[in-house]
Amino acid sequence: MITLRDVRKNYSSEVVIGPVDLTIPNGGITALVGPNGAGKSTLLTMIGRLLGLDSGTIEVAGYDVSTADSNDLAKILSILRQENHFVTRLTVRQLVSFGRFPYSKGRITNADEKIVSKAIDFFDLRDLENRYLDQLSGGQRQRAYVAMVLCQQTEFVLLDEPLNNLDMRHSVLMMQHLHRAATELGRTIMLVLHDINFAAHYSDYICAVKDGLITHFGPPDEIMNAQILSQVFDTQVDVIDGPRGPIAVYY
Ligand SMILES: Nc1ncnc2c1ncn2[C@@H]1O[C@H](COP(=O)(O)OP(=O)(O)O)[C@@H](O)[C@H]1O
Ligand SMILES: [Mg+2]
Repeated sequence: MITLRDVRKNYSSEVVIGPVDLTIPNGGITALVGPNGAGKSTLLTMIGRLLGLDSGTIEVAGYDVSTADSNDLAKILSILRQENHFVTRLTVRQLVSFGRFPYSKGRITNADEKIVSKAIDFFDLRDLENRYLDQLSGGQRQRAYVAMVLCQQTEFVLLDEPLNNLDMRHSVLMMQHLHRAATELGRTIMLVLHDINFAAHYSDYICAVKDGLITHFGPPDEIMNAQILSQVFDTQVDVIDGPRGPIAVYY
């Protein structure tokens, strides 16, 4: 379970994120949606203990993220940030292998190598595994980062805009993979998505964030409502019945 109680981040007197109270049950996908600057990344990075809180508490599986040992947390919680800046002279395989670090401490075992190879294959990176990150397209690099995070094999996975730069096929593959991780392995996944239709189709809960606050939280059927979406995104959104559930239309 992920629990946020009265969580706040005060960037300045004008920009305040929170107070946020939120409980995410174990197992399943929760999509954070909302306009640019709403506070989605701030919330995710605070849960992922990469950003300190100014007040309140966040617990993941009973650990208080502000005080827990970071080695213990790394085995249950992994996070992909929206911006990954360490695009240095690292190959795809080296990067993905970093995901095993909490276990291997730098000494990769055969079992680790197998997990890395499986992730590389799954994300269509086999032909690219010896390329340096700065020799990849944005979408290829994004797949390598997600592969690294998933190699950590944590119970809780936080992904900030994992579909960034991905084409249709790779977006669908990624979401199907995450859906399977949630249903078959019981992982608890929180992700930031911009495509509300992907959020509706693949997630168990949608959490709408606006102006630093959670305005709506519920199953997709509840949130896929023209009035709610138009209000959250400040633009006209219609919701129609599609062959596989509700579809938001905005153009
Ligand atoms: N390091 C920072 N210092 C000051 N303001 C910040 C910082 N990071 C984000 N903000 C502001 O906080 C708000 C929320 O940002 P963010 O969480 O990145 O939004 P989102 O991910 O929903 O687009 C925005 O107004 C942004 O400009
Ligand atoms: Mg963001």
